[in-house]
Amino acid sequence: MALAEIKAKITSINAEELYAALLEGRQRFILDVRNADDFGRWKVEGRAALQTVNVPYFDFIEEEEASVAQVPAAEDVLVVCAKEGSSEFVADILKERDVNAYHLGGGIVTWGDLYDVRAAVVTDYGRIVQIARPARGDLSFVVISDGEAALIDPLRHVQHYLDVVNAAGAKVTHIFDTHAHADHISGGPELARLTGAPYFMHPYDAIHPIDMLPATLPYTYLSDGQTFRVGQFTVKVIWYPGHTLGQVNYLFTGPTGETFLFSGDGIFLRSFGRPDLGGQAAAWTPILYESMFARLPRHLNDDTLVFPSHFSTLDEGDAGGIFTATYGWLKQNNDGLKPRSKAEFTAFVLSHLPFFPPEYVEIKRVNAGLVQPDEDKASELELGKNICALSGA
Ligand SMILES: [Fe+2]
Repeated sequence: MALAEIKAKITSINAEELYAALLEGRQRFILDVRNADDFGRWKVEGRAALQTVNVPYFDFIEEEEASVAQVPAAEDVLVVCAKEGSSEFVADILKERDVNAYHLGGGIVTWGDLYDVRAAVVTDYGRIVQIARPARGDLSFVVISDGEAALIDPLRHVQHYLDVVNAAGAKVTHIFDTHAHADHISGGPELARLTGAPYFMHPYDAIHPIDMLPATLPYTYLSDGQTFRVGQFTVKVIWYPGHTLGQVNYLFTGPTGETFLFSGDGIFLRSFGRPDLGGQAAAWTPILYESMFARLPRHLNDDTLVFPSHFSTLDEGDAGGIFTATYGWLKQNNDGLKPRSKAEFTAFVLSHLPFFPPEYVEIKRVNAGLVQPDEDKASELELGKNICALSGA
C-alpha cells in the first residue's frame, strides 16, 4: 500500500503517538479548533518548527471555505479540540478535500494527562528513570539501586511512580521534593502515605511564603549537607535558596564517583528558576546569586549530569526525550549561568521576570496541606505549561 493510502486511513492518533511525533519533529502542523480563550490559555507545544493555528470549530460550521483556506493542504494536519468530537468533525471536512487530516483521540485533555516514562541513565549499580508530564514541561525521577528507590519531585498522579518501582521489584525508601512547588501539586505526601517512606522537605519551605502559615502535612525536615544512602548511591543535600528559601539540590554519587544532580528549579537546561514566586524578588535575587555562583559549584565537576524538574520547550531535550546535560556543558551554553557580578545578575533577573500566574499562590497552599482541592479543582490549577523559568534567560 502506498504511503499516501496508509496516511489516508489514519483517522486519529493518541497522546503517546503525538508525543513521539513531536519529539521526532514529524508533526509539523496542528489545527486547534477550541475557542480562542481556551487556545490562549494553553496549547500543544513541540519543537520550534511546529506550527499551530487556531480556527474555532464554529468558524468551520459558519464559514467552511474561509476556515479550510487557513489549513496548508500539503501538510499532515492534526486537529485537536477539548475532548474529541469537534476535531473529528473538522478532520472529516478536511479529508473530503483531500487534506491528510486526523484528530487527537480523547482531545487535549489526554495530552495534558500524558506521563512519559524513560530510562535516563542505566549502570550496573543502579538506574535513573525520568518521568515527564510533557504538556506541562514537568520532570521527575525515580532512582533505583539494590532494591531501594528514591522519588524526586514526584507529580500528582502517583501510580506512575509505584508502577516503575514495583516493576523493578524495589521499595520506596525516600521521597525527596526539591522545594515547595508553585506550578504543580506534589505527589510526595500521597506517596509517603501509600508507601510509608519519609517525605523530605526543607523546613523553610514548610511555611507558605505569602500567607506565612506553617504546613499542616507530615514531612521530615532536611538540613544542608545531610547525607543519605539509596542502594549504592550516596545522596547529599545542597541547600540552594533563591527560587524558594527552602530549595535544595540532591547530589547523587555512584560507587565509582559519577555524580548526578537533581536540581529541581535550581538550574534548568536553558534558564533557571525565577526568584519572585514568594513575592520578594528584590530580596531573594541576591540570595539566588550566592546559591548559583558560590554554594552549588563547589560540589560539582564538569561531568556532573544535571537533571532539572522543568523544561520550557521540547528543544531542550534530546531526540530520545531525555532532559539532561553536564554541568560543564551548561556553563558554556546556559546564558543564565554566565559569569556576572551580583549587581549585573540582579538587574538581569529583575528585568526578565515573566507573568506570575495567580493560581501559583493557591498551589503552594495545596502543597503545604492548607487546602485540599478535589480532582476537578486540582486539574484546573495545573492547567497549562509551567512558568517557573526566568524568561529570556
Ligand atoms: Fe518551583
